[in-house]
Amino acid sequence: MGDQGSGHEQAPAARREPTDAFAAEPADAGESVFHARGLTKVYRMGEVRVQALRGVDLDLYRGEFVVLLGPSGSGKSTLLNILGGLDVPTEGTVRYEDHDLTVLDDAALTRYRREHVGFVFQFYNLIPSLTARENVALVTEIAEHPLAPEEALRLVGLGERLDHFPAQLSGGEQQRVAIARAIAKRPDVLLCDEPTGALDVKTGIVVLEAIADVNRELGTTAVVITHNADIAQIADRVIRLMDGRIAGIERNAVKKAPRDLVW
Ligand SMILES: Nc1ncnc2c1ncn2[C@@H]1O[C@H](COP(=O)(O)OP(=O)(O)OP(=O)(O)O)[C@@H](O)[C@H]1O
Ligand SMILES: [Mg+2]
Repeated sequence: MGDQGSGHEQAPAARREPTDAFAAEPADAGESVFHARGLTKVYRMGEVRVQALRGVDLDLYRGEFVVLLGPSGSGKSTLLNILGGLDVPTEGTVRYEDHDLTVLDDAALTRYRREHVGFVFQFYNLIPSLTARENVALVTEIAEHPLAPEEALRLVGLGERLDHFPAQLSGGEQQRVAIARAIAKRPDVLLCDEPTGALDVKTGIVVLEAIADVNRELGTTAVVITHNADIAQIADRVIRLMDGRIAGIERNAVKKAPRDLVW
């Protein structure tokens, strides 16, 4: 952990830091769910060394809606994957609540993901031979306190599409099934890597509405990666990555509803 880490294990009142990374802490900064310090990630491909993250300090707070913006290659997916326990940093620490993710072995990381994290990716990865309801039920069968598949699908506006197969659904509807699947186990955090990347604008907005509804109604902490700066208006906070570093964090004084976006 870097030297900045020393003051952070204190009560929230003492957490305020004079660094840029904390300038845009929520006014009602609640509990820090994720607490990352000095994250670096180096990928080695034979002779080639790619530094994807170059020292990221970040706190994410319970229930907030964060948009992660930055150019291609800036490290957005790498950071999200580390927060979600799909990857580990080369250096630095990341804590989820009381768990130091950087000391967990593979089995413990898998348990962490299964119990706490919902993922949504650009491509929906639904099972073609199963209906919407069955795709969601795959997850709820192994979760401890799941939503009913019907309830999860209703939350994303698909209460009328329970028995449709993926091929009978539009791209936006398939993505909403993927969101229902991700939230059906009631994860604490929903990590979305370009969830609207494969969709047209109008469909993208419906998908963002679904994520915003989940954030509001279930209190799920949500992080959404996007290339589209306009989408930043729907977040509580906007985190900009540039070349593996945090280039800025802003808090939106007013948060827009996705349906009010114009782009
Ligand atoms: N598994 C990997 N092996 C080697 N290099 C990788 C790997 N994953 C990412 N990188 C490199 O790390 C850098 C950051 O990648 P990352 O995927 O985090 O960027 P990104 O901001 O998500 O970009 P995009 O917007 O294009 O998805 C890139 O230069 C990429 O080539
Ligand atoms: Mg990416």
